[in-house]
Amino acid sequence: MFFERAKKVLPGGVNSPVRAFLPYPFFVERAEGSKLFDVDGKVYIDYCNAYGAMLFGHAYPEVVEAVRAQLSKGTLYGVPTEQEVKFAELIQKVSPCMEMMRLVNTGTEATMHAIRAVRGYTGRKKIVKFEGCFHGSHDNVLVKAGSGAATFGTPNSLGVPEDTTKNTIVVPYNDVAAVEEVLEREGNDIAAVIVEPVLANVGLILPKPDYLVSLRKLTSKYGVVLIFDEIITGFRLALGGAQEYFDVKPDMATLGKVLGGGFSVAAFGGKAEIMQHISPVGGVYQAGTFSGNPVSAVAGYAVLNILVQRKGEIYPRLERVAQELSRALVDLSKDYKLPVQVYNIASLYQIFFTDSVVTDYACAKLSNVKMFNAYFNELLKQGVFIPPSQFETCFASTAHLPEDIEYTIEAFDKALAAASMERKS
Ligand SMILES: Cc1ncc(COP(=O)(O)O)c(C=O)c1O
Repeated sequence: MFFERAKKVLPGGVNSPVRAFLPYPFFVERAEGSKLFDVDGKVYIDYCNAYGAMLFGHAYPEVVEAVRAQLSKGTLYGVPTEQEVKFAELIQKVSPCMEMMRLVNTGTEATMHAIRAVRGYTGRKKIVKFEGCFHGSHDNVLVKAGSGAATFGTPNSLGVPEDTTKNTIVVPYNDVAAVEEVLEREGNDIAAVIVEPVLANVGLILPKPDYLVSLRKLTSKYGVVLIFDEIITGFRLALGGAQEYFDVKPDMATLGKVLGGGFSVAAFGGKAEIMQHISPVGGVYQAGTFSGNPVSAVAGYAVLNILVQRKGEIYPRLERVAQELSRALVDLSKDYKLPVQVYNIASLYQIFFTDSVVTDYACAKLSNVKMFNAYFNELLKQGVFIPPSQFETCFASTAHLPEDIEYTIEAFDKALAAASMERKS
């Protein structure tokens, strides 16, 4: 019923294509901890976690309390606040490359402005991105993009002028030689290399050992700015994100999702030398009515504060949850003799229905999507919600309790049985 109404006012009935799946998505009434409760009274254990944003699960009391306290003081002032400064100071403290930053509202804004800042700083037009990496839905990066763009077969979107995308050079992920060749050939025209340090938008693809180190060396060698898009990996792989986890420091980074604890906030930043080119100190224009608003700032501050104080307990716990789920997927798939690849890093995990190792977008595309859909639909029937596409990643949260995991593993068993049936049909 809701979906019929939704389709009349929203294209496809949704406000973001990744939320659409057949026959129709469920509509959520409320969420708490590890669970989503839909309008028909059904409960789901949630491993989508708002595409990775909810590191502590839903309605986390300390974040809710911080926001509640701010609401009565006003929600948007259009002038600076101490809240946004405190928040930015904390981000700077925990994120290795963030000498200076700008707070924005979404990951899309963050990568768009990071690219503009770097173009302004270098005076160069071209950027290098990797096949399957998703950096939001703005023109420069909708070229061989992952996430919904891969799911719905629109990695190169209509409506994006060729004049824009001709400046975006795309190379395969995990292939050092391919990047080197481009940098060698066109390095003088390239402003930035932008990468998801862990490719989490075409399923989950891990960087080969030393891949990120090689990207760092090559970009330094050719004088090109390295941007880590840490919208997913930031505060998930470690408090300091992929930069800390892999011990590689980019020149610039983008942060989002976990950063806001369920509120709309993202950030881009890095070397002060680059960030000082942003208006009003420099000539790169960037602005936003809602940027750094006090509600998002206090929510994000609460999240980071909790992480700073309890990181020793939180990260190992998240890792254990994702590891246990991944191990169960591997073991159960063996029982059903299914050709699968299961990948896991920190609190991220995903299964691919293919017998070959997945190291890039082309390999990911070989996965059997029909088997994935059978697996997804059975999980949904069992009350376990994962992102509804092979080309997304699953996320553990600190709200997942042992009983959730036990239940999920039983549901995995049934879901892999369904995938096995699909394979035979
Ligand atoms: C790596 C990455 N970058 C950027 C974005 C865009 O973020 P947003 O959806 O907040 O605009 C996403 C969203 O999934 C993402 O995964």
